Amino acid sequence: MKKILVTGAFGQIGSELVPVLREKYGKENVIAMGHITSPTPRLEEGPIVFGDVVHKEDLDKMIRKFDIDTVYHLAAIISAKGELNPQIAYKINMTGLYNVLELAREHALERIVVPSSMAVFGPDAPQDNTPTDTILHPTTMYGMTKVAGELLGSYYFSKYGIDVRGVRYPGILSSETPPTAGTTDYATAVFYDGIRTRKYECFLKEDTTLPMMYMCDAIKALMDLAEAPLKNLKHHTDFNVAAMSFSPKEIFTELKKYLPDLQISYKPDYRQAIADSWPRSLDDSAAHEEWGWKHSIDLPTMVKDLYEKLSARLEK
Ligand code: SER
Repeated sequence: MKKILVTGAFGQIGSELVPVLREKYGKENVIAMGHITSPTPRLEEGPIVFGDVVHKEDLDKMIRKFDIDTVYHLAAIISAKGELNPQIAYKINMTGLYNVLELAREHALERIVVPSSMAVFGPDAPQDNTPTDTILHPTTMYGMTKVAGELLGSYYFSKYGIDVRGVRYPGILSSETPPTAGTTDYATAVFYDGIRTRKYECFLKEDTTLPMMYMCDAIKALMDLAEAPLKNLKHHTDFNVAAMSFSPKEIFTELKKYLPDLQISYKPDYRQAIADSWPRSLDDSAAHEEWGWKHSIDLPTMVKDLYEKLSARLEK
């Protein structure tokens, strides 16, 4: 049986990925490692450890103690928070990944799964149907660390045979953890503010179209790639994955079906420039061809599900 360590496990993706991994591989075989934030109650149903990915010895200790063979390395500072403190973003994203890769080499780990992001693209990449293989000139520290991370992962594969894999996520909407650090987080924040106060002030312009995905598809993408036969993969660390694209205006219109009195105002801030530098839609044909990726959730289905889950929780 696999022994999996998940770093960044208390964050947006980890909080929902860990329970799904535990269902598949057994509760005791998936170790959730986090740092500053608190774990959700669901994570406490299995092994939880505290450690900082910047400290190699923390990771080393966990890999030895639990006889780990696979790491899902989720710990990272994403776009918006990264621009407020690029130095911390660099340290966590680069030193954290380097530590994981070096330990994978030292312990001959079987697999490293590390998400990348559409933030690898910059304003000079094609903005519509952006291909997996194209020019990568990001303008954020987050994007730069993700480009470097993809390249490092490929380097460890060709130089040391470490099986490193990753998808480039679009914005992810989810209900377990409140949105805090991303440029795409407006799309979830509107549910929290809308349900509580019937008002939301959006930090992006109404027509800023970005690629997005619901969490269940995001988890499926990472796990499907992790399980794909190696011989079928031409790419490793840099697969675009797509599900839908929409603007603030489009998702707010959809949400107004459930909250007809929702009032929206717009006050674009520094996150607008980040959003403007990213694609409007992604071409994910490489993921489709090499490991059969296909999303299942569209905008209306996602909005209905998110509204039902969050209104049940927030209106209590
Ligand atoms: N959701 C992320 C962000 O906004 C994109 O990878 O930073």
